[in-house]
Amino acid sequence: MRKIKTDIYEVGGIDWDARMFDGLIPLPHGTSYNSYLIRGSEKTALIDAVDPRKRGDLFRHLKELGVDKIDYVISHHAEQDHSGGLPAVIERFPDAKIVTNQKCRDMLIDLMPLTVKNFTVIEDGQSISLGNKNLQFIFTPWVHWPETISTYLGEDKILFSCDFFGSHYATSRMFVGDDEGFVYQAAKRYYAEIMMPFRNIIKRNLAKIEPLDIRMIAPSHGPIYDRPEFIVEAYRDWISDDVKNEVVLAFISMHHSTEAMVDKLTEALMTRGIQVKRFDLTEPDTGQIAMALVDAATVVLGSPTMLGQAHPKAAYAALLTNALRPKTRFISMIGSFGWGSQAVKQVSGLLSSMKAEMLEPVIAKGYPNDADMKKLDELADSILEKHKSLDIA
Ligand code: FEO
Repeated sequence: MRKIKTDIYEVGGIDWDARMFDGLIPLPHGTSYNSYLIRGSEKTALIDAVDPRKRGDLFRHLKELGVDKIDYVISHHAEQDHSGGLPAVIERFPDAKIVTNQKCRDMLIDLMPLTVKNFTVIEDGQSISLGNKNLQFIFTPWVHWPETISTYLGEDKILFSCDFFGSHYATSRMFVGDDEGFVYQAAKRYYAEIMMPFRNIIKRNLAKIEPLDIRMIAPSHGPIYDRPEFIVEAYRDWISDDVKNEVVLAFISMHHSTEAMVDKLTEALMTRGIQVKRFDLTEPDTGQIAMALVDAATVVLGSPTMLGQAHPKAAYAALLTNALRPKTRFISMIGSFGWGSQAVKQVSGLLSSMKAEMLEPVIAKGYPNDADMKKLDELADSILEKHKSLDIA
């Protein structure tokens, strides 16, 4: 249990050992499932109810504070890591009302084994009073599901934002403080993985909270922002339409032909002043790739041909890129084949949600010859020209 301010406490659990989220994205620094207790002069509210694996921590913290009554449990988001502990909380405090919006209520009933269905359904902008403190609910959909809500505590100028602005970072720090460089990376990884596909909706959510006087942002993962403008500024950059003079070059090679092409293209791009973020897909950290996709103007996939198709790991990278829907403007493909290939057609199909322009792929038969290497120079020229057209090179 950690005290944030008078009558406001963080009562959730830190998951130091978590190493994978959604069975997909590595968590190199663990995570936390934050939950907040707010004591008003008349009522007590609990914000979010942690992942069920950490409900023991939640109950221990409530006991340390001598909490014997909870009037409201604010449910921001029906996903397991914030609401999985809700059935146990309601069992312990059966008179508590679950405060949430209609969409989240319906999802909780569908997804959780809730035997008590004592809901107070709120509308966007509505407030409830705890006596000397008021909680105002702000619907912030798609951070990261359609039902997600944030809560603003005006008297203390704190925004409780759930996944919005969160970071997967297990730390003993309660506040970000002078750890902004590290938290920036963790928050960017999180944004890239779960919010980037909904960038345009995140823009609207950011516009909704900007008029509020916010002195602290308390997310449900990672430390609390005691200088909220730091993370708001970062989000403004990530969700903007601006791209950077960068190429994400993700590749896999079987017999070094594709690798030789990747080496050539890397050097050709570097010579032209373009930053290359290069990822070998043999054992990739998909979180690092997702982070690089937040900014890059161009994505190039490198793949050999396997049984007439792109290598499955390159196909996976295409599928991931397509799902994350980055603001990338240009895409291309390089690679090799032995006896025949449908890889370009296949990868183009896998990238069907991308609104990016396809630049002429370079596919070599076997080890790349001089003509293939010249085509890679031409691809680098083409990327430079496109980046110049955006005023970023
Ligand atoms: Fe942290 Fe969308 O759950």
